[in-house]
Amino acid sequence: MSTENLEPYWMPFTSNRAFKKAPRMLTAAKGHYYTDADGRQLLDGFSGLWTCGLGHCHPKIVAAVQSQVATLDYSMAFQMGHPQAFELAEKVVGLAPEGFTRIFFTNSGSEAADTALKISIAYHRARGEATRTRLIGREKGYHGVNFGGTSVGGMPLNRKVFSAVMIPGVDHIRHTHSLADMAFSKGQPTWGAHLAEDLERLVQLHDASNISALIVEPASGSSGILVPPVGYLDRLREICDKHGILLIFDEVITAFGRVGAAFGAQRFGVTPDIITVAKGLTNGVIPMGAVLVKESVYQALMSGPENLIELFHGYTYSGHPVAAAAGLATMQIYQEERSFAQVCDIEGTFETLLHELKAEPHVIDIRNIGLMGGVELAPRTGSPGARGFEVFMRCFNDGVVIRNSGDIIQLSPFFGSTEDELIRIIDTIRRALRALA
Ligand SMILES: Cc1ncc(COP(=O)(O)O)c(C=O)c1O
Repeated sequence: MSTENLEPYWMPFTSNRAFKKAPRMLTAAKGHYYTDADGRQLLDGFSGLWTCGLGHCHPKIVAAVQSQVATLDYSMAFQMGHPQAFELAEKVVGLAPEGFTRIFFTNSGSEAADTALKISIAYHRARGEATRTRLIGREKGYHGVNFGGTSVGGMPLNRKVFSAVMIPGVDHIRHTHSLADMAFSKGQPTWGAHLAEDLERLVQLHDASNISALIVEPASGSSGILVPPVGYLDRLREICDKHGILLIFDEVITAFGRVGAAFGAQRFGVTPDIITVAKGLTNGVIPMGAVLVKESVYQALMSGPENLIELFHGYTYSGHPVAAAAGLATMQIYQEERSFAQVCDIEGTFETLLHELKAEPHVIDIRNIGLMGGVELAPRTGSPGARGFEVFMRCFNDGVVIRNSGDIIQLSPFFGSTEDELIRIIDTIRRALRALA
C-alpha cells in the first residue's frame, strides 16, 4: 500500500475524492504489464492511454532518452535548432501521406489541435482570404482541452461548464453514430456516408468565404470508438475541396499504427490538408505532439522579408531534444518491428474476440477498427456511467487495465499482443459483465 500524501495532486479527468479514498497506484511498467503499489502485475489493455503501442519501457527508447538527456538536455526552441528535431521531422513526414512535407512540434495533442486551427486561419489570411476564420468540428469529437480544441470538440461534459467562453465562430456537423443503423458493425459501418452532407448545411448558412477548416478524428477514440462509415470521409474531402475549406484530421490516437497504418488517412484512403499527432509519436515516453501540413499550407506562410518570423506561434518545449530522441527511437522501432503490419496481423483476431461479447449482459453495441475497440453498455437507470466504471474497477481488481468513458468500455491493446493476452482481456471483461447488476 502506498504511503504518499495524496491530497496536493489534483488529478486530471479523475474522480479525485473517490480515487484518494481507494487509490490505484502504478509504480512500474515493463513490456505489456504494470506493477501496482501492492506488487501485483496488471496486464495493460489500453497501451498506456492510447500512447505506448510498443509496450512499456522499450529498451531502445529508454537508452535513447538516457543518452540524450545527458548530452543536450534542452536547447532554446526559438531561433535555435538541434539535430534531433530536424531528423525526427524528416522521419515523420517520410511516413505521412503524399504531399505532407512539413511538421510543427508541440507538447501534446491539445496543443497540436489548437496549433492546427491557428495555422488554418493564418493560411487563408496569407492567401488574401482573411474572412475565412470560422472553424467546424463535429458532435462527439475530442480535440483536447485547450480553448480551441474544447470549442471545436463535441463532448458535452467537457464543454458545459465553459459554454459561455467557447471561442466564437465555431459550428459542429452532426456525429456519425446511430445504434439503430449500425450497431455491432465490424470495422467501418456501411451506413452513414450521407451524414457528411451536413457540412453543406453549414456552408449554406455561413458561406464558404467565412469558413477556415473542418476538424475531425478519422476514427474517434475518446467519445467511444466511432468508426467512419464507408465513404463518409471521402465525401467530407469532396465538400471541403468544393468550398476551399481545409480538412484537418486529428490523428492523436489513429497515427502511428493504432489503425494498422502509419496514419488513419492512409488506412481510410482519404488525404486531409493538416494532420495532428501526439501519443504514439514518442510511444508516450516523453510528452510530444505535432502538426503536419501539406507543402502548399507551409508555402503560403513563407512570405515577407526572410528575417521576419513567419508564424507567431510556438512553445518553449517545441521539438524538445529529449522528446525528439524518444521520437526518433520510436520511429526506428516501428520500422524494425513492422509495428503497423503487426496491427493488421492481429486485427482480425481482436475483432472476433471482441464481438464475442455481444452475447453478454447489458451489451448494446460493439465497435472496432485496427486495435481500437469499444463495448457500449446500456446505462443503469438513473445512474449513467455507473456500469462502465464498475467494469473498469472489476477488471482492475482482476488484473487487467482497460478504460471506460461513461458506459463505453474502451480497449487499445499493444501492437505486439499475443492471442493469449487478447483472450485474457476479453475474458476479464466477460467476467465483469456477468457480475454486474
Ligand atoms: C483525438 C485527440 N485529440 C487530442 C487529444 C488531446 O491530447 P493531449 O491529452 O495530449 O492534450 C486527444 C487525447 O486523447 C485525442 O484523443
